[in-house]
Amino acid sequence: YPLLSLLLIVLFLLSCSPLPLLLRAPLFLPPRQSRLHQVKTVDNSRTEPVVLVFVESIYSQLGQEIVAILESSRFHYRTEIAPGKGDMPTLTERNRGRYTLIIYENVLKYVNLDAWNRDLLDKYCAEYGVGVIGFFKANENSLLSAQLKGFPLFLHSHLGLRDYRINPNAPLLYITRPNQVEQGPLPGDDWTIFQSNHSTYEPVLLASTKSSEALAHLGSGPLRALHATVIQDLGLHDGIQRVLFGNNLNYWLHKLVFVDAIAYLTGKRLCLSLERHILVDVDDIFVGKEGTRMKVSDVEALLSTQNKLRALVPNFTFNLGFSGKFYHTGTDEEDRGDDMLLQHRKDFWWFPHMWSHMQPHLFHNVSVLAEQMRLNKLFAQEHGIPTDMGYAVAPHHSGVYPVHSQLYEAWKSVWGIKVTSTEEYPHLRPARYRRGFIHSGIQVLPRQTCGLFTHTIFYNEYPGGSKELDKSIRGGELFLTVLLNPISIFMTHLSNYGNDRLGLYTFESLVKFVQCWTNLKLQTLPPIQLAEKYFQIFPEERDPLWQNPCHDKRHKDIWSKEKTCDRLPKFLVIGPQKTGTTALHSFLSLHPAITSSFPSPITFEEIQFFSGPNYDNGIDWYMDFFPFPSNVSTDFMFEKSANYFDTEVAPKRAAALLPRAKILAVLINPSDRAYSWYQHQRAHQDPAALNNSFHAVVTAGPSAPRDLLTLQRRCLKPGAYATHLERWLQHYQPSQLHIVDGALLRSNPALVMDGIQRFLGITPIFNYTQALTYDDSKGFWCQRVEGGRAKCLGKSKGRKYPEMSPESRAFLAEHFREHNMELLRLLNRLGQPLPSWLRHELQSTSWS
Ligand SMILES: *[C@@H]1O[C@H](CO)[C@@H](O)[C@H](O)[C@H]1NC(C)=O
Ligand SMILES: *[C@@H]1O[C@H](CO)[C@@H](O)[C@H](O)[C@H]1NC(C)=O
Ligand SMILES: *[C@@H]1O[C@H](CO)[C@@H](O)[C@H](O)[C@H]1NC(C)=O
Ligand SMILES: *[C@@H]1O[C@H](CO)[C@@H](O)[C@H](O)[C@H]1NC(C)=O
Ligand SMILES: *[C@@H]1O[C@H](CO)[C@@H](O)[C@H](O)[C@H]1NC(C)=O
Ligand SMILES: *[C@@H]1O[C@H](CO)[C@@H](O)[C@H](O)[C@H]1NC(C)=O
Ligand SMILES: [Zn+2]
Repeated sequence: YPLLSLLLIVLFLLSCSPLPLLLRAPLFLPPRQSRLHQVKTVDNSRTEPVVLVFVESIYSQLGQEIVAILESSRFHYRTEIAPGKGDMPTLTERNRGRYTLIIYENVLKYVNLDAWNRDLLDKYCAEYGVGVIGFFKANENSLLSAQLKGFPLFLHSHLGLRDYRINPNAPLLYITRPNQVEQGPLPGDDWTIFQSNHSTYEPVLLASTKSSEALAHLGSGPLRALHATVIQDLGLHDGIQRVLFGNNLNYWLHKLVFVDAIAYLTGKRLCLSLERHILVDVDDIFVGKEGTRMKVSDVEALLSTQNKLRALVPNFTFNLGFSGKFYHTGTDEEDRGDDMLLQHRKDFWWFPHMWSHMQPHLFHNVSVLAEQMRLNKLFAQEHGIPTDMGYAVAPHHSGVYPVHSQLYEAWKSVWGIKVTSTEEYPHLRPARYRRGFIHSGIQVLPRQTCGLFTHTIFYNEYPGGSKELDKSIRGGELFLTVLLNPISIFMTHLSNYGNDRLGLYTFESLVKFVQCWTNLKLQTLPPIQLAEKYFQIFPEERDPLWQNPCHDKRHKDIWSKEKTCDRLPKFLVIGPQKTGTTALHSFLSLHPAITSSFPSPITFEEIQFFSGPNYDNGIDWYMDFFPFPSNVSTDFMFEKSANYFDTEVAPKRAAALLPRAKILAVLINPSDRAYSWYQHQRAHQDPAALNNSFHAVVTAGPSAPRDLLTLQRRCLKPGAYATHLERWLQHYQPSQLHIVDGALLRSNPALVMDGIQRFLGITPIFNYTQALTYDDSKGFWCQRVEGGRAKCLGKSKGRKYPEMSPESRAFLAEHFREHNMELLRLLNRLGQPLPSWLRHELQSTSWS
């Protein structure tokens, strides 16, 4: 079949004219991502395969489940409301396909597309080898039996089914392992089955009808005892491969097959390997309450289960986290359990928890914190517990995220910690957004939830009933966690291994279930190797995205009381460089109700946090540039760093930490800005600027020397104003952005400052007409000081240099013309006034 289908696809392609570009604008843009979820930012690189999901509405349940699986898998996607008649989003871009896979929440929306759009979509799918996944949800209005419009395929709906099985010949099977039959009735009476005698269809999942009378309305066609509820269309009918589901994703096996369908239809471009790593942490060793701890027989059970699991999960080893202070604080029987654990210490892995189970963020003084850790280390040494695993976990995630820099320091100095894990980055919920990051040389891995907590210790008292635990294991949340994450670290506790030993039950059942139904290869790696593996698979997660600790209640609770979230700016002056941002900074600093950041010894009035390596220092470092609000008369703080404007990562980082900040950008004619930068570099002895004329710099071709091209880029790139502003507008609302006309700031600063004050909504309004005075010798507006004299910025500001040559000006006018047009369109869209220089520039260039 595959050969045949390939042949047919090729034939189809040959007969197919190139796909016309669709000019219609998308009907629906996906909702702006919530600020809290910035971390998962979708789709910034075009080379990443993107899935197009047609949902019924933004609230539809199946649509959300589809998206949840894509997000858990870290696949890029775009959702669209499935169009009614006549609206289809643009599918191609510069002769490239935008989407690798198309998913319809309701396959009837696909089948019933008007002929024009259906034809476009079919041609797109055939030309780019794009498959379609569709769900058939029977509802009250749908027919009981019908042919699917345009396909040699019959549907029969509203059926109750039983005895589910997987067709071992279905080509899409990858993770799914076919040798199981799920005996018994399937949930619900709204199943749809597919029937066809066309060789393009291969059943994937098959079931029997619940009762024989249900067969009565199945009509003609070869009645088989088994009916397909999920089928694979091999593309033999019309050159397009599809997978159709006769129900939604509620049934767990559909989720598994859905994951395989995505992998198959994208030629494994959207697919994880079969390797899965699990690490089971058993925390709070010795900490458990008297009466709930492990006894000798529990430790024996732990050892024997570990051995059993090793047959299925190579190198499986329980990872024990200890707090030495609580050793021997149980009943006599439990104390003998403690001793038995220590006797078998070499059979387990060990990691330090805090000595007295204190939360690290409660310690402000690193040496006091380190002292606590040393006590635990001493305990380990006295009892022969290995201390070289390089892994640690903090009680209640405290200090890991939000980062308490003292914890990182103490961990490194006392234990040489290289790896930890938390559920809190970027947030506990939703679990599918949890990610890792590296800070200060410590690799932080996401930790997954397995549903066992300190207090869940009896099977029959499991929250919601024991069947909830079994559901989670048998295809539910816990199973999906392993299915969708190549690496899962689970947290359990001492008490889960005493009492009903739910920890043993859970992981033994989980491993067996995974082995029964999937081809996944489970294994366990020591934490350091696990972390290496993690960041190999997800290198883009290495850099963290810092958020405000007080924007999440759970984070606030583990944020040091001696720190505040208020040492953060209310607005940013983002640049670009050489547009007058230093003057603006000095004018703003005159305002009695505005406080600027402290100067930096290295970068002067700029902090340059969001734009470069300073970001790695973390937010404690950033906050140290701002006064405690209680120290100053106003907490209306700001900072100015002129290279934020055109730095790729700056808007995303700024918005993650300062989602409500206001943003000021100062724009002058980009040609003048380029020239000013060139003069700035000459003044700073940049050889490329000293050895080349400005004209040579801006007109240099791609084969010019590297340093010349670097200078050229710094002259020209920031001047593509609209491009950079659009990037800020991906992360901030238009109402948060204010464009300052840099030319006007220079000629009439009082007017501009009035506009800025209104935009900031600051009181009292400060009278800049009174505060500023024009300095004739400098040719600038400066601060008016006593006696009406002027206090101006230093020598380096407002340098005097010759006019730009007319040839360079003409060249740059041409270079920036399209960018300036873009800016015009952007400012019109935003309803912001046009700077005078922009009007002038556009008028003069339109004559040339
Ligand atoms: C499939 O069934 C249709 C209608 O039942 C029939 O006309 C057709 O000949 C059949 N095709 C094959 C290949 O059996
Ligand atoms: C797993 O255990 C085996 C035998 O104990 C050992 O040879 C192997 O190196 C281990 N693998 C890893 C990745 O640690
Ligand atoms: C930290 O605590 C130690 C011991 O109490 C003390 O000697 C030291 O001065 C403290 N350091 C700071 C920075 O407060
Ligand atoms: C705040 O004021 C205290 C006491 O006047 C001073 O010691 C401290 O350095 C100030 N801190 C900041 C960040 O302004
Ligand atoms: C610039 O010119 C000087 C001599 O004027 C020369 O020594 C230097 O190597 C040149 N630098 C570059 C980068 O071309
Ligand atoms: C600001 O000061 C100038 C000069 O003293 C004065 O003419 C003007 O009325 C003042 N503006 C306001 C709004 O008070
Ligand atoms: Zn703990």
